[in-house]
Amino acid sequence: MGVSLLPSSPAFLALFLVSVVTLCLHPEPTLAITRQYKFDVMMQNVTRPCHTKSMVTVNGKFPGPRIVAREGDRLLIKVTKHVQNNISYVFIDTGMEFDSFAAGQRGTLFWHAHKSWLRSSLYGPIIILPKLGTPYPFAKPYKEVPTIFGEWFNADPEAIINQALQTGGGPNVSDAYTINGLPGPLYNCSAKDTFKLKVKPGKTYLFRMINAALNDELFFSIANHTLTVVDVDAIYVKPFDTETLLIAPGQTTNVLLKTKPHHPNANFFMSARPYMTGQGTFDKSTVAGILEYEDSHKTIQSSRYIKKLPLYKPNLPPNQKLLPPPADLTKC
Ligand SMILES: *[C@@H]1O[C@H](CO)[C@@H](O)[C@H](O)[C@H]1NC(C)=O
Ligand SMILES: *[C@@H]1O[C@H](CO)[C@@H](O)[C@H](O)[C@H]1NC(C)=O
Ligand SMILES: *[C@@H]1O[C@H](CO)[C@@H](O)[C@H](O)[C@H]1NC(C)=O
Ligand SMILES: *[C@@H]1O[C@H](CO)[C@@H](O)[C@H](O)[C@H]1NC(C)=O
Ligand SMILES: *[C@@H]1O[C@H](CO)[C@@H](O)[C@H](O)[C@H]1NC(C)=O
Repeated sequence: MGVSLLPSSPAFLALFLVSVVTLCLHPEPTLAITRQYKFDVMMQNVTRPCHTKSMVTVNGKFPGPRIVAREGDRLLIKVTKHVQNNISYVFIDTGMEFDSFAAGQRGTLFWHAHKSWLRSSLYGPIIILPKLGTPYPFAKPYKEVPTIFGEWFNADPEAIINQALQTGGGPNVSDAYTINGLPGPLYNCSAKDTFKLKVKPGKTYLFRMINAALNDELFFSIANHTLTVVDVDAIYVKPFDTETLLIAPGQTTNVLLKTKPHHPNANFFMSARPYMTGQGTFDKSTVAGILEYEDSHKTIQSSRYIKKLPLYKPNLPPNQKLLPPPADLTKC
């Protein structure tokens, strides 16, 4: 179930979009509005772990722009291609528009390229708020925080998958995982590319989480904090608490974080790393962002003060578990 951004031409099907599909043909005519977005598909130089590469982006951004709508709204997205007519990048025709109704569903989804491994860098959040006047089935959060997990490849991901398809071997693994496009301090050369969330004590934050990694299931946890899952794949669920969550590729989930009642005089890692049960090679690295508390008594917080605070790390489960072969296999 979900939202689909419908192409206005079949050629478009080669490309975009949302992982899940449903159209409600009866949007509320009175409340719904049309929201317009402009997607300029262009090359952009992006530097992560000290490695600069030219890559396909929307509007020069990595991750791509955020789409925000209310349930029942109509989205009109005008896509203009500014990349060369090179086979590996022809995935969209110039001047196209596509539209959809964000109907029958509210929550977090994401758009992404459908062409091969271009989706490893061409993606962005879709946030569908409830209809105007319809509250969440949980306390209104103080702030909402889109949190999109992804992978970074120093090489061109298209070249990697093409090589794998030619040799029949497994594709080269990613060089880093990212949170909102940022690898974080556990990777070389990336401390300045860290996702930092400044929070106030005693407030509730809503994380809108998306796993845009190609193939990896990711464990996520925030040190010394409990998360409350309230929505999975844009469907409300009965809220439950957890220290650690597992988010599959293509999955989304909305999670509440209640911050500590007082400034804890500490900073906390928000970390994610993959989980595998098989033998294959995969990127075993860990991406970390930092949760920082604002101190109402210190109006000017020097970065030195923040750096001095202890930094706690969550206990993530081991990232590989080799399962014994199934019983029926050992029998024969
Ligand atoms: C990327 O960097 C290269 C080398 O510095 C430069 O020639 C090129 O114009 C840059 N591309 C963009 C889109 O900025
Ligand atoms: C397309 O562009 C990429 C990146 O610039 C290049 O590696 C590739 O050889 C080009 N392919 C063709 C068919 O021109
Ligand atoms: C994949 O990794 C191998 C070994 O490190 C390297 O030789 C090869 O160039 C890589 N392929 C691509 C497409 O980057
Ligand atoms: C990170 O930096 C260290 C020290 O410079 C180096 O030995 C190591 O190979 C680097 N790791 C990666 C993944 O580049
Ligand atoms: C964080 O958790 C660690 C380990 O459980 C504990 O020792 C520490 O006191 C906690 N710190 C804060 C600020 O909650």
